[in-house]
Amino acid sequence: MTLPSVIIVGAGFGGLGAAIECANRGMNVRVYEKYPDSNSHGDILDIFPNAGRIIKRWNDGKVGQEIHDTGCSKIRSMDIYKYDGKFLASTSWAENDEFHDITYAGHRGKLHSIILAYAKTLVPEIHIGLGVQKYLENDTQAGVVLSNGETVWADCVIAADGARSIAREQVLGINDSDDNETSWAVFRTFLSTDEAARKKLAAHGLLSTNDDLVRFWMSDTLYLMAFSWNKGKDIAWTLTHPDDKASSEGWTRSSIADREHLAQWMKDFTTEDAQVLLDITPQGRTINFKLVYRPTIEKWTSKGGRTILIGDAAHANLPTAGQGASQALEDAATVAYCLAKGDGDVRLALEATQRIRYHRSNAVHKSGGINRDVVKKTPWDEIEADPKGFVERRWAKMRPWDPLAFAEEHFPKVAEDIAKGVQGHPDVVSVPPPPGGYWYS
Ligand SMILES: Cc1cc2nc3c(=O)[nH]c(=O)nc-3n(C[C@H](O)[C@H](O)[C@H](O)COP(=O)(O)OP(=O)(O)OC[C@H]3O[C@@H](n4cnc5c(N)ncnc54)[C@H](O)[C@@H]3O)c2cc1C
Ligand SMILES: *[C@@H]1O[C@H](CO)[C@@H](O)[C@H](O)[C@H]1NC(C)=O
Ligand SMILES: *[C@@H]1O[C@H](CO)[C@@H](O)[C@H](O)[C@H]1NC(C)=O
Ligand SMILES: *[C@@H]1O[C@H](CO)[C@@H](O)[C@H](O)[C@H]1NC(C)=O
Repeated sequence: MTLPSVIIVGAGFGGLGAAIECANRGMNVRVYEKYPDSNSHGDILDIFPNAGRIIKRWNDGKVGQEIHDTGCSKIRSMDIYKYDGKFLASTSWAENDEFHDITYAGHRGKLHSIILAYAKTLVPEIHIGLGVQKYLENDTQAGVVLSNGETVWADCVIAADGARSIAREQVLGINDSDDNETSWAVFRTFLSTDEAARKKLAAHGLLSTNDDLVRFWMSDTLYLMAFSWNKGKDIAWTLTHPDDKASSEGWTRSSIADREHLAQWMKDFTTEDAQVLLDITPQGRTINFKLVYRPTIEKWTSKGGRTILIGDAAHANLPTAGQGASQALEDAATVAYCLAKGDGDVRLALEATQRIRYHRSNAVHKSGGINRDVVKKTPWDEIEADPKGFVERRWAKMRPWDPLAFAEEHFPKVAEDIAKGVQGHPDVVSVPPPPGGYWYS
């Protein structure tokens, strides 16, 4: 079996996942990440069972266990409320114990640093603070020009450079700049609380000494979501609101939200819980994050076939899908599997990756459709008549999914098609959704 050498651009969840999966399959991997400290950014990040089962396989479950030990892993259900605090319904966060074990959540920086530490034990060449300026490719190799001017080559390049990817333009020729206006933004806060704050949280049931909590409040057009874990020592909350142009796109350069501005939108929520969240949040701790959106694309690979985009670079999901990190990890596991199975045929492997991932990724992308969640006015009549039914439809459950098993099942046929020269629109040549689709309807 011939294993290709791999360059990975970006050490987010997609890039690190690909590095780990490729290294675990014996490939020679180098990773380049431009930000020296992107670790510390972010707030709450969720990884659902479809991707959690990938993490569970790392280092005999030790990586997953470490995430569970520090993260927000004891959520049993999400409780949904009206803006005035009236309880509407609960929905299970993970439907059984098996799923619970492979559902991860926690502070993004913490999760990221655990995964980075594991990746470093497998991949000696993870260069943090060394970015990529330019993507290159010829008939036999793909490469990148680094920010220090050096050029490096390998058999293939995996561009996992996030929603603000330069690979989209350089490798695929896509110019996004006019397409990403959603007109929504999110106030995002992560806090480590002090004793006084925890008292207030406890008084409002926003702290549990047993389980971790996630709550969701709906107003006529906005929604507020809060997570509480580590016995209330860690709190994250988000408030989605129309973009009044004070926000900016990107985690490392987002604008700090002004407290007055924040309070003005928070007014929609008359429940005391909202006031408590605001009270315990000091000025300067909330960012105003423009909702990142990129349209889906038809081709994830370069013309020459030795470069592929994965993760947010290929399909930036809205946070309403809750699947950003999970989809990046599905890509990562799939591309590593195909590269190993491709037996040195990198072009076939990367094309197979896209064909295996395309329909599923697009379906998830669509599920984050902002319309369903925030643009429409909350249908109070429907909710009051049947809160449980509404909640079940609104938070539809994804069917069990193992991306690796899916790749194993479909790779042989897909590879045969590619080898035979079967070409066509990706809608047609890609692996179709399974019977019944990806969600329980
Ligand atoms: C700093 C940060 C904080 C985030 N916080 C949250 C959060 O709190 N909650 C949440 O749900 N999602 C968060 N996200 C988004 C989430 O991580 C992604 O949606 C998801 O994990 C998909 O991962 P990805 O690897 O495709 O992209 P990303 O996680 O965005 O990773 C892309 C990586 O590529 C690097 N990169 C970009 N351009 C270059 C270049 N030219 N050369 C080298 N490296 C490059 C970036 O610095 C980044 O580390 C955050 C992303 C970032 C970058
Ligand atoms: C592609 O570039 C690499 C690195 O410079 C080089 O070794 C290789 O010969 C090139 N291949 C072709 C076909 O030009
Ligand atoms: C992308 O679009 C923007 C604005 O529409 C334009 O200024 C820019 O030059 C374009 N870039 C390319 C490579 O076409
Ligand atoms: C769209 O995304 C690009 C980066 O790809 C960014 O530079 C630009 O500011 C964004 N535009 C809007 C209107 O959000």
